[in-house]
Amino acid sequence: MKVDSLETLRARRSAKWRTYPADVLPLFVAEMDVPLAPVVADVLRAAVDSSDTGYSASVPDLGRAVSGFAARRWGWEIDPERVSAVTDVGVGVVELLRVLTRPGDAVVISPPVYPPFFHWAPEAGAQLREVPLTADLRLDLAALEAAFAAHPAVYLLCNPHNPVGRVHSRDELAALVTLASRYGVTVVSDEIHAPLVLPGATFTPFLSLPGAAEVGVSVLSASKAFNLAGLKCAAVVDGVRPLAPQFPPDVRWRTGHLGVLATVAAFTDGDEWLDELLGFLAERRAQLAELLRTRLPWIRWQPPEGTFLAWLDCRAREEGGQPAGLFLDRGRVALEPGLRFGAAGAGHVRLNFGTSAEILEEAVDRMARAAG
Ligand SMILES: Cc1ncc(COP(=O)(O)O)c(C=O)c1O
Repeated sequence: MKVDSLETLRARRSAKWRTYPADVLPLFVAEMDVPLAPVVADVLRAAVDSSDTGYSASVPDLGRAVSGFAARRWGWEIDPERVSAVTDVGVGVVELLRVLTRPGDAVVISPPVYPPFFHWAPEAGAQLREVPLTADLRLDLAALEAAFAAHPAVYLLCNPHNPVGRVHSRDELAALVTLASRYGVTVVSDEIHAPLVLPGATFTPFLSLPGAAEVGVSVLSASKAFNLAGLKCAAVVDGVRPLAPQFPPDVRWRTGHLGVLATVAAFTDGDEWLDELLGFLAERRAQLAELLRTRLPWIRWQPPEGTFLAWLDCRAREEGGQPAGLFLDRGRVALEPGLRFGAAGAGHVRLNFGTSAEILEEAVDRMARAAG
């Protein structure tokens, strides 16, 4: 997989390339630097060539594409009729929370976690409850049980878990199903990173577990694995209870037409490209391990099982501090500050390794020089 030169990448106008000055290497926001999958680029080009840029019509294509992808990749059978298009994962989760909660109801999350998880419950009028991951970055099932006993409305699961890259095991998820059933909690499973599970790990779709369809709903998207965030399309996969049909009627008009076309192409014809991407990301993960070992040996981390994100514990040097500021000011490398992912992120940074070997090496070199 050939990544463009830094000079060519800098011509991109997305958030990754427009947030910082040109001398900063941007390894912060979760966009990748790989070129678009040709099957996706062809569909988008054809749409533009034929001025096919109107409102989206996702039925029945999106459901069939999501269902086909889930069956091929994970052996998960989805009824295409249970799949509904939404603007993006954020909109999907907030609309689900509006259906599932009343004002003041609690939504439980497990920090360190993707920063908007802290915003989505308040946006929907619900209260947030934090049940942090354990010290080894796993779901804390005992603490979740204690929290569920207070009958929150929803547990918002990140599966796989951004920023730590954990692919929750089948047993952990089965235990979650048991707890959710016992205490009447609905599990909203954000599975945006599911297509990005790296060699060595196995993704378990939450709804594929026995009993999960009675207590859960999933939100999927091609936007992380195929780099389509700007096109605005994700899919809510309902369990037994039809939740998406309860969304306000205009929600379906807010999905991007090009996003639907690109998602259908990616999930229908993108397997080969995705396999190549996963091999490339596994190489970058191994490269990052070697770079950290030799140049920043005091940083602690667990190589992620999925995603293109590395959660780096810098507390050996930056106890409770903000290492992202140091790496940016002195090294001109932009990383996500750990505190954005919750209090447990103090002294951490999140690094996006979905880039070329050259840029990754340069970034770690700069970080090492910055740290002195
Ligand atoms: C766990 C998680 N959920 C949701 C999103 C955002 O998805 P969307 O742009 O579809 O709202 C991200 C983006 O990185 C993410 O990591």
